[in-house]
Amino acid sequence: MTQDTIVSSWNDFDPLRHVIVGRADHCCVPPSEPAVDDKVPVDSKMKGMWGPRPLETVEAANEQLDGFAKLLESRGIRVDRPTPIQWNQAVSTPDFRTFSMFGCMPPRDVLLTVGNEILSAAMSFRCRYFEYLAYWPLMNQYFREDPNFRWEQAPRPRLTDESYRPNYGMGKHAMTIEERLEKVAAKEFVTTEVEPMFDAADVMRMGKDLFVQHGLTTNRTAMEWMQRHFPNHRVHAVNFPGDPYPIHIDATFVPLRPGLCINNPHRKMPEEQRKIFAKNDWEIVDAAMPAHDNPPPLCYSSTWLSMNCLVLDHKTVCVEASEVHQMEQMDKLGMEVIPVPLRDAYAFGGGIHCCTADVYREGTCEDYFP
Ligand code: NVA
Repeated sequence: MTQDTIVSSWNDFDPLRHVIVGRADHCCVPPSEPAVDDKVPVDSKMKGMWGPRPLETVEAANEQLDGFAKLLESRGIRVDRPTPIQWNQAVSTPDFRTFSMFGCMPPRDVLLTVGNEILSAAMSFRCRYFEYLAYWPLMNQYFREDPNFRWEQAPRPRLTDESYRPNYGMGKHAMTIEERLEKVAAKEFVTTEVEPMFDAADVMRMGKDLFVQHGLTTNRTAMEWMQRHFPNHRVHAVNFPGDPYPIHIDATFVPLRPGLCINNPHRKMPEEQRKIFAKNDWEIVDAAMPAHDNPPPLCYSSTWLSMNCLVLDHKTVCVEASEVHQMEQMDKLGMEVIPVPLRDAYAFGGGIHCCTADVYREGTCEDYFP
């Protein structure tokens, strides 16, 4: 690494030095569109509603996000923030139109950092098509500061109706959880394979290996694209048949340090896929149960944001402050636990890991699975 290196991160556990923390400003509940509709459970109060989120919830989320940013800074970590735009505006491309955007929480969904590259994802939600704009000022700044920074954008998806299965789970095709699980087992999701589509949060970076969840937001074509884009990496497709809404790997399978991962006990990694971990002496431990029975109001995510933690180094981890069982388990696993109040930000798209994106971690590209 040269002295000018600003961007470098190969995994989610080496010592963190520089990170982006999201903002809740102007965030909206997006209007109906195929990929979003499939993510919102039929019995959710969010079904059918859209528009700007209540101001008091934006303020409460921002207060906690600002507090988290300050906490990280107090530990010597550089923190940057996105520049929100007015998300509550209709946007159109030659291929689609939507009446509002989403927000710039959480950055982890959009930005995939691999070594000295930050790649903006090819997201499948139409309302998130322009979300990368909130990070454009930072990317431009890193580009000027770091001569080796690779500022990259995955192929912009067209997101025409061809990108989604027609009426998937909609209206009279609404599915029970059991029916959804059958679809998940058959790997039949709302997104089709006509073009690469992925969210960065479906990718778990572990040095030379990228473990990518196949689900609602990431298709196989994207994995093929990733493999060609990162020719020196091994891209592994993983799936978690117990999850009726498989989206984003970081409340399902989370590495804590080299050799140790926690796995959601309701979404176990299949035996076949575990082999690579066992063969290389990695331990996979069932994550502790969430402390809450329900997610907060207007939240897309499950209670399993409990395990959505930010590892600061091999011995230190940030866990949401009300997640008492997860904190206790981390402590038993030998980690120093930093409790971070963030539950007011959950509704905006995720937890402690989701609300960040790596810019710089110490360390190099290791081969953990030779
Ligand atoms: N599918 C996940 C999203 C976590 C970031 C969940 O809701 O559990």
